[in-house]
Amino acid sequence: MKRILIRNIAHLYGILPAGVERLQGKEMAHVEKIDDAWLSIEGGHIIDFGPMSSLPDTMFDEVIDAKGGAIMPCFCDPHTHLVYAGSREQEFVDKIQGLSYAEIAQRGGGILNSVDLLHRLSEEELFEQTMRRMAEIEAKGTGCIEIKSGYGLSTEDELKILRVIRRIGQSSRVKVISTFLGAHAVSRAYRGRQGDYVRLVIDEMIPAVGREQLADYIDVFCDQGFFTPDETARILEAGARYGMRPKIHADELAPSGGVRVAVEHNALSVDHLESMPDDEIDLLLGTTTMPTCLPGTSFFLNMPYAPARRMIDRGLGIALASDYNPGSTPSGDMKFVFSLGCIKLRLLPEEAFNAVTINAAYAMGLSQDYGSITHGKAAHLIITYPIPSLAFIPYAYTSPIIRQVIL
Ligand code: NIG
Ligand code: FE
Repeated sequence: MKRILIRNIAHLYGILPAGVERLQGKEMAHVEKIDDAWLSIEGGHIIDFGPMSSLPDTMFDEVIDAKGGAIMPCFCDPHTHLVYAGSREQEFVDKIQGLSYAEIAQRGGGILNSVDLLHRLSEEELFEQTMRRMAEIEAKGTGCIEIKSGYGLSTEDELKILRVIRRIGQSSRVKVISTFLGAHAVSRAYRGRQGDYVRLVIDEMIPAVGREQLADYIDVFCDQGFFTPDETARILEAGARYGMRPKIHADELAPSGGVRVAVEHNALSVDHLESMPDDEIDLLLGTTTMPTCLPGTSFFLNMPYAPARRMIDRGLGIALASDYNPGSTPSGDMKFVFSLGCIKLRLLPEEAFNAVTINAAYAMGLSQDYGSITHGKAAHLIITYPIPSLAFIPYAYTSPIIRQVIL
């Protein structure tokens, strides 16, 4: 097996002991580092690391000079809708002219617009469009990504998306996790018959997805104007019969009751939370559900930001994700999400760092193998240009810092 040494690392950030699956409350404010360090890789895994004074005199097959840059684990992005067709910049202009995201959706635009575009596209073209986005996020340092379906809204098109996600996972060095989101909106064919659509998701889509084992997780857009807590609960129970654990959308447009449903169904994560009421923070304490905030969505839609600061102050861990999708966040730039975490959510750079690495890995069930510099974990690493400190990364919010991504 090929043995690689990386030397001349000015700062090695994000060191954690094995077995730490997530960080919560005050723990989030600490990032362990070694200055003037080396790190070795074998068979794609981190084997060892330490200060340059302890560099072993073993032979390596390849030596990479970090040239005084920093190394950190790759970003993990635990919430995206990356498989979509085309783009929706006309709605971007409509929003500038005064329409809200909810108003656009009510007029039959929004998600349904993307559903029409995707329906017309072949599986092959959909794969190619998505692979271009994959290349973009990989270059920006994302090493693990969760991708949802949800622009199909018919059994056939939802399966088409999930098959594309599977193929992307096989074709990319980025680790891909897939989530079934048939309950993203009610399709045009079922307009005014929401109950029938929910039955379609439960009786036809979930069994089809389950039989082909196409999804790791199940999601529902539990929000005002979309799906109710009761419908969400029924869909999650159907998913659980096929081993799909929930990761759901809640409280994006209004307090939706989704946090309670998420906790009651042992969700791995509950995401968005821009309109989260304070008492829902208590529901999450002591659970294994990771609240996941998507500040890029608030930025792009000019909406309120999730109460991430209050959640951490009350002892919760949080993760950050991009939400990369054509309607509410056409960006998967996790460095920018890192910056927004600091600027808009008032997280310390260390807290935001942990939210885009170890806690983000946790929010897609990957933190045992990804998300930190730990003996035995996958060597998914970002090598930066020389930077003075960790805080410089979110501070220099449009400066490119990545010299090389190792996957
Ligand atoms: O996470 N909230 C639901 N879904 C996406 C947006 C989907 C779209 O507008 O296409 C989101 O923001
Ligand atoms: Fe989303």
